Amino acid sequence: NLSNTIEILGKSYLVDHLTNATPAILGKVGRNLHNTPNHPLNLIFKRIEAFFHRTYVKRGNPIFSAHSNLCPVVTHEQNFDSLLVPKDHVSRSPSDTYYVNSAHMLRAHTSAHQQEMIRSGLDSFLLVGDVYRRDAIDATHYPVFHQVEGVRLFSDFQLFSKVSDPSSCSLFEKGRRGDDKQETHTLETSKLLEHDLKICLENLMRALFGQNLEMKWVDAYFPFTHPSWELEIFHKGEWIEMLGCGIMEQKLVDSAGASDKAGWAFGLGLERLAMKLYSIPDIRLFWSSDSGFLHQFKNKTFEDEIVFKAVSKFPQCVNDISFWIPEDFTPNDFYDLVRSVSGDLVEQVDLIDEFRHPKTGRTSHCYRIVYRHMEKTLTQDEVNEVHKDIEIGAAQQLGVEVR
Ligand code: PHE
Repeated sequence: NLSNTIEILGKSYLVDHLTNATPAILGKVGRNLHNTPNHPLNLIFKRIEAFFHRTYVKRGNPIFSAHSNLCPVVTHEQNFDSLLVPKDHVSRSPSDTYYVNSAHMLRAHTSAHQQEMIRSGLDSFLLVGDVYRRDAIDATHYPVFHQVEGVRLFSDFQLFSKVSDPSSCSLFEKGRRGDDKQETHTLETSKLLEHDLKICLENLMRALFGQNLEMKWVDAYFPFTHPSWELEIFHKGEWIEMLGCGIMEQKLVDSAGASDKAGWAFGLGLERLAMKLYSIPDIRLFWSSDSGFLHQFKNKTFEDEIVFKAVSKFPQCVNDISFWIPEDFTPNDFYDLVRSVSGDLVEQVDLIDEFRHPKTGRTSHCYRIVYRHMEKTLTQDEVNEVHKDIEIGAAQQLGVEVR
């Protein structure tokens, strides 16, 4: 029965109780912005790739290989289990993740491919791709964005090549896990990997934002790295989180068939980087087919300085909506509905009031919806029509009762 399947990139998937990827989201799969020549996301990736290619060279050849065509439909196993994400971790919740069905999902991070890449024999690689997360609606959040993943594995010979007496060092021990290392890593292993990782990423950020960039490391937690950090940069008066990284859990390296090596990994969001680097004010612009946007990057190479000239922002229209919510309602259900109904006409949605009726025990949510077209002024009539469609859609598809 055809109606019980969905097609993504030429493959059919059975629809089941977990399916929650909306047609609006599936319409983004395959757009391939990161592989589109002169698209700002493509330019940024090339800049990152060029940094790795000139920094890490062996006998005249680049050490890092770059991969940009891995399928965004992955198994739950790839996205979660292969990375030791606990069964009850919040990121597995259908309110956070786009499930295709009980076996497949749209990847929520590029880390989903670490295992298969290492298993295929790669030691040092970059991979870029689109990732999908159910999220709020505002100028910096979009349910699809792009990440670059980087992994570097070392043999003992490679990691200890610069110490005075390499034969006295070993990668592994049977020890104890602490804040600064895993149980199977020696302290030298952990510290040398940390040093190599941090130098690499600091230099990458300087290559992108300039030599005088101020940065700070913040301790973090990921199920697949330990220890883990986030790197923040100081840009135009604010601290911005740029990436997550850490020493790869040895269990993962072992099960990918590289148990004689240890290494680091990082994951970096491209939109945030591009928005800061090129002064792009709204994340929806990356998806705009408006020539006014793409034209500005047309004859540029990744080495050019580019300052985006804001396409004048057209006026906003604000409308509120209030409704009683059913039991199993999550705000992300409403955000997806708004995106499905309005396309990209909505700039921001905020939950501005939540209230529980003392007698009936029912809960009411009030959302403020900010409408703004990227390319023209919306009339109040146009906005009212979309707003009405959102009300009808919310009532029909989410079972809310509009007040
Ligand atoms: N996958 C993580 C995220 O999306 C980032 C990360 C990648 C962290 C690799 C550590 C190592 O937030």
